[in-house]
Amino acid sequence: MTKKVRIHHFKEMKQRGEKITMLTAYDYPTAKAFDAAGVDMLLVGDSLGDNMLGYDSTVPLTIDEMIPFARAVARAAERSFVVADLPFGTYEVSPEQAVESSIRMMKLSGAQAIKFEGGRRIARQVKAVTDAGIPFCGHLGFTPQSENALGGRRIQGRGEQGIQDLVDDALALQEAGAFAVVLEMVVAPAAEAVTKALDIPTIGIGAGSGTDGQVLVWLDMAGVGDWHPRFSRQFGQVGAEMTNAASGYVKAVKDVEFPAAEHTFDD
Ligand code: KIV
Repeated sequence: MTKKVRIHHFKEMKQRGEKITMLTAYDYPTAKAFDAAGVDMLLVGDSLGDNMLGYDSTVPLTIDEMIPFARAVARAAERSFVVADLPFGTYEVSPEQAVESSIRMMKLSGAQAIKFEGGRRIARQVKAVTDAGIPFCGHLGFTPQSENALGGRRIQGRGEQGIQDLVDDALALQEAGAFAVVLEMVVAPAAEAVTKALDIPTIGIGAGSGTDGQVLVWLDMAGVGDWHPRFSRQFGQVGAEMTNAASGYVKAVKDVEFPAAEHTFDD
């Protein structure tokens, strides 16, 4: 078995300038494929609400809905480090609520770390979670659970004040014990300033190349679905290939060409 990626490896990777790779994963076969490809971190993101369950945002998703997905990913990951999101409404109220939700997710999913959104406003929750012995990954910049408060999907970190706010939020997360911080849809100079200010690694999505690592939603990365964010790249055409395979199957069955003799039990 390949050596498991552990929490201390990420800081070491930052120190030696090796980029960290992270992809979302929501199920067993996909997680197996990404684990085999050498992806360092698998994120069971709350983006599973819109990507897998058809919600129009991440807001309606519950912990109960997430757990079977997270458990499947954790079972598949031999080498990759698995991070599970806490969904909206499961950590904001108090440090106690955050610790209870994190423990529940860790126990029932088998994930190795928890991620939730926010900076200084949730630093007390982060401290309580890390004090409970749970590795924590932060998420700053555009935070989809606050999409309504942010006025939509808007780029973050603009201007001197925008950069300073992000740096202060990131430092608060580091101080509270976070081992990494995701920066989503942040202008490149702000992402670079945060990366420079922190000892822990930054993982960017739509934050330019100056972060310590990159994360993408796997469907965007693999060309599945109609959503093509400008910051992403399609490294394959998996959606088209699935349609091709299903069309071939439909045609073969209609033409009574499948199943053939070799697929048939005669006695
Ligand atoms: O839920 C998710 O997919 C995420 C990534 C966008 C980082 O949080």
